[in-house]
Amino acid sequence: MSAPPPQAWLNALLTLLQQAQLALLRLWHLLGWTGDVHGQPAWPWARRIAGETLLIDLGLARQLAWSLLAVAFALACLVVAWRWRRRRLAWLGVGALALILAPWPSPRLLLTAAAPTSFQRSPTRFSVETIATGARIYAAACAACHGADGRGEGPLSAQLSSWPPTFASPLLGRRAEGELFWHIAAGMLDKNGEKTMPGFAGELDDAQTWAVIDYLKALAAGTGAAQQGNWPIPLRLPEVSVQCPGQPPRPLAEWRGTQRVRVVASDGDPSALPLEDPRFLTLLVTPSGQPLAEVPSFRAGCVAASPAAWPVFAGLAGVEPSNLSGTALLADRDGWLRARAAGKAGWSDADLLCTTGQPAQPAQVAQADGRRTLPQDGLTALLLRMDAEPVRFVQGGFVH
Ligand code: HEC
Repeated sequence: MSAPPPQAWLNALLTLLQQAQLALLRLWHLLGWTGDVHGQPAWPWARRIAGETLLIDLGLARQLAWSLLAVAFALACLVVAWRWRRRRLAWLGVGALALILAPWPSPRLLLTAAAPTSFQRSPTRFSVETIATGARIYAAACAACHGADGRGEGPLSAQLSSWPPTFASPLLGRRAEGELFWHIAAGMLDKNGEKTMPGFAGELDDAQTWAVIDYLKALAAGTGAAQQGNWPIPLRLPEVSVQCPGQPPRPLAEWRGTQRVRVVASDGDPSALPLEDPRFLTLLVTPSGQPLAEVPSFRAGCVAASPAAWPVFAGLAGVEPSNLSGTALLADRDGWLRARAAGKAGWSDADLLCTTGQPAQPAQVAQADGRRTLPQDGLTALLLRMDAEPVRFVQGGFVH
């Protein structure tokens, strides 16, 4: 028997805290004590629990977990004291003692500044269309400071009082979506109260602001893939309408959650279309986004039915649109993009761009397949590693 990895209880704790804060927000909203901001309930307090700190400060997380257990124990004592009158004082005493002895974490570490939109979720579903809309907004309103590649080296950035951050880093994964939204809508100040980043609430409506956040994530992935060979933040397979031969179009979301998905960029030559493969569903991305007229048998024929798909997938892969044909991306069963093969014949687990940061563990890989040791081709090894190392997502911070 071995103790569960710290990740398991930490994830449970963070989920609990997140749910508790959301429940409180809903209650306040229901009672009419807080209104709406940007179309969703407004967080009425200036602070919130710093999930992102707990994620890296295991000691603090343990203190909090023990204190919560002490509170639960004290509540249980209260119930017992209420039901079992004879020993009432003793039970109340034990409960109070638990509260006194609990290792209460310091509120200064536990809490962090919150914005009214801290707990808001993006309504966009990270779709190809919103990423394309976001790209246009970014080019017009943000690239001058943040740079076309998002590394903070735009033509204006040298004149600013503080340098814009690079998005090709874990930054966007660490911040809760709602706080990115707030920073873009309201702007940012430095410690002395000087404006560092302008606010865009007057120029961009809510939908446009969420769209530009989708694009920032895609940009972070593309720049990371092109320059560092990895995706700095976990990314979902973007939503797009799928058109399969002889069937009505349907959302890609229907494929997620059950099957791995392989996305193959093809400029349309029917003989170059990839073969169907039982290990995943194949989605073709074509420059026009049009369904293919004739698909030879056994060849993959389902197409991403949007002309925006080509430039968006080129961006995610970190490849120029003119060089995209032949590139393939793999998404795991949970819908996370994991690997890229750029114009090569074979796959290997070196193609994994979204990893858990640990070297592959052969034992785990063999276990995931239910077999001991079998000769594996590069693609099978890659798929098994993807399955053995699932992406873990925590709101307000990613366990990756
Ligand atoms: C005038 C220059 C300028 C423009 C224009 C600008 N930014 Fe910024 N941005 C900055 C600076 C400087 C920072 C760093 C601010 C800080 O850390 O105090 C920043 C920070 C950010 C951050 C990081 C926020 C965080 O949580 O740390 C995001 C996201 C961002 N900008 C998005 C955008 C988007 C989207 C646009 C366009 C709609 C945009 N910016 C336009 C200068 C700019």
